[in-house]
Amino acid sequence: MLRVLMFYVIFTLLNVGVYYFLYKKSRYVFQTKKMSQVFILIFLLVQSVPLTLYRFGIIQAEKSFGHFWIFLGYSCMSFLSYIIVFSLFYDLGTFSWNIFKRNKRNEKKDSEKDDAGMERREFIKKIGARSIFGTALLGASTGTVKATQVPPVKRVILKSKKIDNEKKEAKDFTFVQISDLHAGPTIRDSMLEKLSDEIKKLKPDLLFLTGDMIDAIPDTNMMRILGNLKKIDAPLGKFFVSGNHEYYWGAERWSRAFQTLGFEDLDNKNKVLEVNGKRILLTGIQDRAARHFGRSRSELAQISSRVSGEQFDYKIFLNHRPELYEEASRLGYDLQMSGHTHGGQFFPWNIVVNIIYRYPKGLYEHKGMNVYVNPGTGYWGPPNRLGVPNEITFFKVSC
Ligand SMILES: [Fe+2]
Repeated sequence: MLRVLMFYVIFTLLNVGVYYFLYKKSRYVFQTKKMSQVFILIFLLVQSVPLTLYRFGIIQAEKSFGHFWIFLGYSCMSFLSYIIVFSLFYDLGTFSWNIFKRNKRNEKKDSEKDDAGMERREFIKKIGARSIFGTALLGASTGTVKATQVPPVKRVILKSKKIDNEKKEAKDFTFVQISDLHAGPTIRDSMLEKLSDEIKKLKPDLLFLTGDMIDAIPDTNMMRILGNLKKIDAPLGKFFVSGNHEYYWGAERWSRAFQTLGFEDLDNKNKVLEVNGKRILLTGIQDRAARHFGRSRSELAQISSRVSGEQFDYKIFLNHRPELYEEASRLGYDLQMSGHTHGGQFFPWNIVVNIIYRYPKGLYEHKGMNVYVNPGTGYWGPPNRLGVPNEITFFKVSC
């Protein structure tokens, strides 16, 4: 209880700080103090109010007005993010410039620090703030349009290294990976309908969900939205592993929910498939968030040991986070499929994930094993995908 209270206090203080920062910056954008105050009030109504009301269940994403208001609230978050980041860059730039100028000015007479200089600085501040607000608005609106489009299909062609010398025998099998959809507050029926239609057109042999598929509890509305995935036919099976967000919203309930939608739970499990006369191993591991919810996570080596001694032509490892690749390659896996990073979604977070993760987005090779990190089929938080498109990943493996 105390921890929850602490969270809300810190969150509120942080919000007040952010709004104060926004107000100070807006003073250079608008002519009067009054106009800045009106701007903050409107921003509060479109950003913080809907998200708070949604969090406490007062408005629902089911209702069209509720959905619009919540969507607007999340969209404004990317606008806010751009304002803060651009302002910090701008302030750092002007601070450095002022130090440089001050050193030069000290060599001149004090009388030269006149009113004209003050006016010029005020003018530059206004131009700077207006440019930041304009760019942030453009970035937020363009990114929102990109995020709400049906994810394009990214095609990845791989080969099994074990049978590369037997090319005449090789046949293709195909599978689709979707990850980090985060269906819930803003990703609703229409996106799921279009997404399912796109996947159906690909006719994959297998379908994989690699976690963070939701951001809500598995109620009837969510089951209706995700029911679209049930309509996808994958003859060799449909599988899922948990992401951290499944734990935030009840991993066990979501495991049961996905099973009713026709997906097999691969958390800490192996599954052996026969494809074109070849033996394929699928191994999944639950997300490490499990540890924070009182569950001990199985080790990959421990799960893999259950099938030790068996021969496989292709081994696939599913892990929500792009981690454990060292161990997976040592255990002879051919492909690791992950997500979690979202590729950062938009600037500057797309740069930040490149610093945090060794494999932030796309296809890599790690000691003979392919690692594929899906940048997210949906988005989390702000509906913004500027420069980092979401995707449906379609794999074709010669096996
Ligand atoms: Fe995610």
